[in-house]
Amino acid sequence: MTATEPRTDQEILDRASMDDIDAIAEFNPDPDEVIHAVKDQAEALFTWDYSKGSRPRLDKLYEKAKTSQWNAQTDLDWSIEVDPLQAFSIFTESSNVNTGHWTEHPDSPAKNWGDKEWDQFSIESFAWRLSQFKHGEQGALLCTAKIVETVPWIDAKYYAATQVVDEARHVEVFEKYIDEKIGVRYPVNPHLQLLLDDIINDSRWDMTYLGMQIMVEGLALAAFGMMHQVTTEPLLKKLLRYVMSDEARHVAFGVLSLQEVYQDMTAKEIRERQEFAFEAGVRMRDRLLQQEVWDRMGANVKQAVQHGLNIPEEDDLFNQLLFSKIVPNCRKLGLLDAGDGWLREKYTEIGVIELEHLEDTGEEYQAFSLEDDEIQVAR
Ligand SMILES: [Fe+2]
Ligand SMILES: [Fe+2]
Repeated sequence: MTATEPRTDQEILDRASMDDIDAIAEFNPDPDEVIHAVKDQAEALFTWDYSKGSRPRLDKLYEKAKTSQWNAQTDLDWSIEVDPLQAFSIFTESSNVNTGHWTEHPDSPAKNWGDKEWDQFSIESFAWRLSQFKHGEQGALLCTAKIVETVPWIDAKYYAATQVVDEARHVEVFEKYIDEKIGVRYPVNPHLQLLLDDIINDSRWDMTYLGMQIMVEGLALAAFGMMHQVTTEPLLKKLLRYVMSDEARHVAFGVLSLQEVYQDMTAKEIRERQEFAFEAGVRMRDRLLQQEVWDRMGANVKQAVQHGLNIPEEDDLFNQLLFSKIVPNCRKLGLLDAGDGWLREKYTEIGVIELEHLEDTGEEYQAFSLEDDEIQVAR
């Protein structure tokens, strides 16, 4: 037990209950805003210990990053024409929306849809997914710039600086694809925004890593992997392959850095990290309910959100798999079982604990690495 009373779900999430439909179905209160300001409340640290390589695994990652850069403008063939319906309906077919829970169940807002509605949904839903990824990529850009300032180790500052460039490229490449190949866009989902705000607002530098490198990027790596596997659209396939090769390094950066930091933490400090990992997990579950898409399709949003939460576990494989990097990494970091196994219970409640024994991503970036001949940078 910690010295202070453990916080309840309501306190951690700042709402009536974990499944509070009114709160989950809320929209971005200001979808037209152009600038969104968040206080980052952290000290920028200089270090006078310049001994490069004193953390060998971070140093190796930094050297790898330097030779793995690609150019979003010139390494991809932007002349490829994309037919959005043909390219994106496969994602609807392979997702959890293609189950009887959505197509036939009497409470489903889509139960009476014909081909026309499903075709429109496929394009809207995919545009929504890529829009949220792009917003998340900007979150990663800001978070990693913050890590450059706040982390006390020179090897981590060096590595994080390469990640800043990676994330700028990811924002650029997703925006270019949305702009040139889809033409449909969505503002940031409020649950994703809340999570990004929380991560940036936290003054503790390791929380940036946990929120961004482990949670947000862990989900992104899994999602890109699944999209890469099913898509037959050649431009998107290559784009995702390139982004994944970077993301795998980013998640490794989180795992390698936090392993060291968590070793010296008190039980109370670890509990705060567990609570944050739970909060982030719920925010990401909420964001996957894609209320903005249901709204654009003319469906009753609260009904759609409630129906999404009621999905039987066997029909929800798609969303569960999005946690396939997060849960093993939390396990590797000792967060699942620390204290009284609090996070294990919470991840059981949100239906993702079965993923704990999949491979963690401490070294997985080697397998995702691009071959030299895949990078066609003009030198
Ligand atoms: Fe990224
Ligand atoms: Fe990343």
